[in-house]
Amino acid sequence: MTRLCVPLTASTVDQMIADLDLAASSGADMIELRLDYLHEYDDASLRRLMAEAARFPIEVIATCRIANEGGRWEGDEMTRVSLLEAVGLLGPHYLDFEYAAWQNSANVRQKIGLVCEVNSESLRPRHKLILSAHDFEKTPTDLPALLAKMRNEPCHVVKLACKANHITDALAMLDAVRESAKHRPTIGLSMGEAGIISRILARKCGADLTFASLAGGKESAPGQIPVSDMRTLYRWDSIDAATQVYGVIGCPVAHSMSPAIFNASFAATSHNAVYLPLRVEPAYEDFAAFIDGCIARPWLDLRGCSVTIPHKQNLLRYVEEHGGFIEPLAARIGAANTLVLRPPDAGHEPHSLAAYNTDYRGAMDALIEGIGGQAQSLRDAEVLVLGAGGASRAIVAGLHDAGCRITICNRTASKAEQLAADFQATAITWERRHDQHPDILVQCTSIGMWPKVDESPLEQFDLPARTVVFETIYNPLQTKLLMQAGARGCRTINGAAMFINQAAAQYRLWTGRDAPRETMRQVVLTRLRG
Ligand code: ATR
Repeated sequence: MTRLCVPLTASTVDQMIADLDLAASSGADMIELRLDYLHEYDDASLRRLMAEAARFPIEVIATCRIANEGGRWEGDEMTRVSLLEAVGLLGPHYLDFEYAAWQNSANVRQKIGLVCEVNSESLRPRHKLILSAHDFEKTPTDLPALLAKMRNEPCHVVKLACKANHITDALAMLDAVRESAKHRPTIGLSMGEAGIISRILARKCGADLTFASLAGGKESAPGQIPVSDMRTLYRWDSIDAATQVYGVIGCPVAHSMSPAIFNASFAATSHNAVYLPLRVEPAYEDFAAFIDGCIARPWLDLRGCSVTIPHKQNLLRYVEEHGGFIEPLAARIGAANTLVLRPPDAGHEPHSLAAYNTDYRGAMDALIEGIGGQAQSLRDAEVLVLGAGGASRAIVAGLHDAGCRITICNRTASKAEQLAADFQATAITWERRHDQHPDILVQCTSIGMWPKVDESPLEQFDLPARTVVFETIYNPLQTKLLMQAGARGCRTINGAAMFINQAAAQYRLWTGRDAPRETMRQVVLTRLRG
């Protein structure tokens, strides 16, 4: 069973002892004592540290990472080895030592090997030896060969940690772990935002352990996720080989709310699935390489993705080039935000792919619900749309299908004219936005979005009280425009409704079941209010 290991990186023994307590109570199965972070220590304080660690039902790795492998140790090698020998006598369960340094010196091999009894016949060594290799620049091309070479050494566990410059590096790392774990306990991690999947899916691949930080800001390597997020947000304990994988593809994706929404939804419906942030570099080739890589790995069981900036057009192109299904309206809008994948089975040859746009459906449902009516009540409604970007395009398509009379007003007139031409609407100049008296105002610009919350697209608010004001920004929940509209007595609809609706539509496309909307709403509101 893959364990969660929290590295302790405090600079004093006292702080490390305090952190130990916190790690154990936050759900760590193991801790890694990073001795190279300690500024001061002596025999007595190290003994105290190990005695404290023994109070918890967690295993201990002792490491003194050398600087050229990403550690802080800059002293001489013999002092480092002596420190590990001394700590080894105090009873950690594992010693981690660098493969390169191990190979460098027969003397070192003998000393570390003795502590770990790697050459003895004992079936239960006092301390197990982890041989590790790190690359903070890149992921080497032949990970399986490197792991095989490491396994030739007398060690109990092999570990690789390499920077992922592309998410496909993380896929290669997961492959290497799956293969190597058949022969020897293996740890394989991809560092950086693109490598996050290797940390969360370690359990799906049978890795010996994965590292999680004590808290945000306390990482010992880039991309480590706080242990509390591993346990609660990513539901670490429920991940197994059969767990389906979903995620949000974007660049960047670190701040997306979607993992919180979907993982909570999967938990609420007892669906064996995990939803991940998938950082894919912007070019089409990067997008295609990632989806190709996922499809080539049936064990991964990628079932669907939310697709966001800058990949919405890439998704359409990929599905089109691979003969998949494109929802007709997504094709007309020219952007899709949802990928549905079905693995090959009797009914689908070889893999089925489909692209949808749930933005327009999310917006239309929010609008219809907000006006308390039916889709038919939108027929012939006069709608003024502010903005002509991606969100406007999806909403204008939906409004057009509902039979609205649409006027589009955008700072850049040519974009308004193009959008109007595509959907039989009228374009007006940005200056004329104050002269209009629509039944519905749809706000699709980024004006008023956090952090510029004091801005509104309408400096003076002259709309009549009968106008319904629909805002697409959800951060903040109450934009300045909505406050102006509320003060006038207009009915208002905030951006959270559209955001939740489009997520709920994705959930239905992926699982065939209704989304737990109340769970989604709670997650969004808690996050936004927080
Ligand atoms: P989205 O996908 O969310 O629609 P987008 O495609 O970047 O994002 O579109 C942003 C919209 O906000 C555009 O209509 C943009 O106007 P331009 O087409 O002229 O760029 C509009 N917008 C952003 N900042 C604005 C500002 N300060 N004043 C007026 N319009 C603005």
